[in-house]
Amino acid sequence: MTEDRSVRPFVVGIVGGGQLARMMHQAAIGLGVRTRLLAEGPDVSAAQVVADVTVGDYTDPATVEAFAAGCDVITFDHEHVPTAILRSLEAAGVVVRPGPDALVHAQDKAVMRDRLTAFGAPCPVYEVVPDEAALVAFGDRTGWPVIAKTSRGGYDGKGVWKLDGPQQAGLPFERLAEGVQVVAEEFVDFTRELSALVVRSPSGQAVAYPVSETVQRDGVCVETTTPAPGLSEEQATGAQHLALSIAAELGVVGLLAVELMQRADGSVVVNELAMRPHNTGHWSIDGAHTSQFENHLRAVLDLPLGDPTTRQPWTVMGNVLGGTEEDLPSALLHCFARDRRLRAHLYGKPVRPGRKVGHVTTFGADLDDVRRRALHAAGYLMGNPDA
Ligand SMILES: Nc1ncnc2c1ncn2[C@@H]1O[C@H](COP(=O)(O)OP(=O)(O)O)[C@@H](O)[C@H]1O
Ligand SMILES: [Mg+2]
Repeated sequence: MTEDRSVRPFVVGIVGGGQLARMMHQAAIGLGVRTRLLAEGPDVSAAQVVADVTVGDYTDPATVEAFAAGCDVITFDHEHVPTAILRSLEAAGVVVRPGPDALVHAQDKAVMRDRLTAFGAPCPVYEVVPDEAALVAFGDRTGWPVIAKTSRGGYDGKGVWKLDGPQQAGLPFERLAEGVQVVAEEFVDFTRELSALVVRSPSGQAVAYPVSETVQRDGVCVETTTPAPGLSEEQATGAQHLALSIAAELGVVGLLAVELMQRADGSVVVNELAMRPHNTGHWSIDGAHTSQFENHLRAVLDLPLGDPTTRQPWTVMGNVLGGTEEDLPSALLHCFARDRRLRAHLYGKPVRPGRKVGHVTTFGADLDDVRRRALHAAGYLMGNPDA
């Protein structure tokens, strides 16, 4: 029997089996899209729910090539697939979205800073420093403290140091991996962090989510509020335009998260970029007309994008980080009994200290109430009933 194209669903190959892939899969179900997963292990978060799973190493060209065969498009749960592998996939006719030329700006903070600065996007003063002496010279020139980052491989604050003085300048160079550089940045004395999420499709359509306020603790996102309270319309549209222009300039396809730091005078500088669904967009599953996961899939399949605007005046997302509570499904009993409008998302990951194991979302018209409910539920799930 010949295959009938009209009933063959799109197949999206997702590299990486974390919670972002799991939630992408959840959106794919509603779209009738099939997912295929290249997972780090048989039990990782997304491998528990996707039917078509390859367990393998995303740094091995043959593994990735075999995985990609038969997929309509390849996309990502994380940014760590080597550029050379993505380029050879493209050369072999595989559709990769976002493509390697865009993705490198989310993989390499030195490349990102150079490109954004050349393009006129606001960035902190920075310099790629080859050694400790150059880092000390940078700090002495721009003033301490200094932020130092590894150019590649960092996440959730791992690979970021706040250096109070020259005596700490050796830290980033300890255990520096092959091919990784150190980027020194002026310490931005921000009053808060913001996140501007946009989605762009290959045909150039783009949508912007309302800008969120994000709270990071020890480099890990713990809370978001959408829209960011107190952001003027001018500041909000300014951040959205900045993110849209970066997406267009870099040729991003799919979701682009622009992490921003806002100073007391209201101005913003770009912290970093991510090109995949982002923790600061989890609120959109329950709080927006179209979630970031669905819009990411629509974009990589070049389908018309959905409405990114909010359903309710305020949406708060609280991350559940591994704490003393291990039995999360049972702990939900209390949370749901107390709050019938609470939305909870557990990732199926074993609880380990500080690990992202789920998130909760609340929404409504009274921000204080919405926030209190989210923080209570997230706190309870982390083993802190008094939160
Ligand atoms: N130049 C800077 N000045 C002040 N704080 C910064 C600066 N760069 C990063 N940070 C802080 O460190 C956090 C993590 O940095 P980031 O580059 O986003 O690393 P990661 O890739 O681990 O998320 C940011 O969310 C912000 O709180
Ligand atoms: Mg970050």
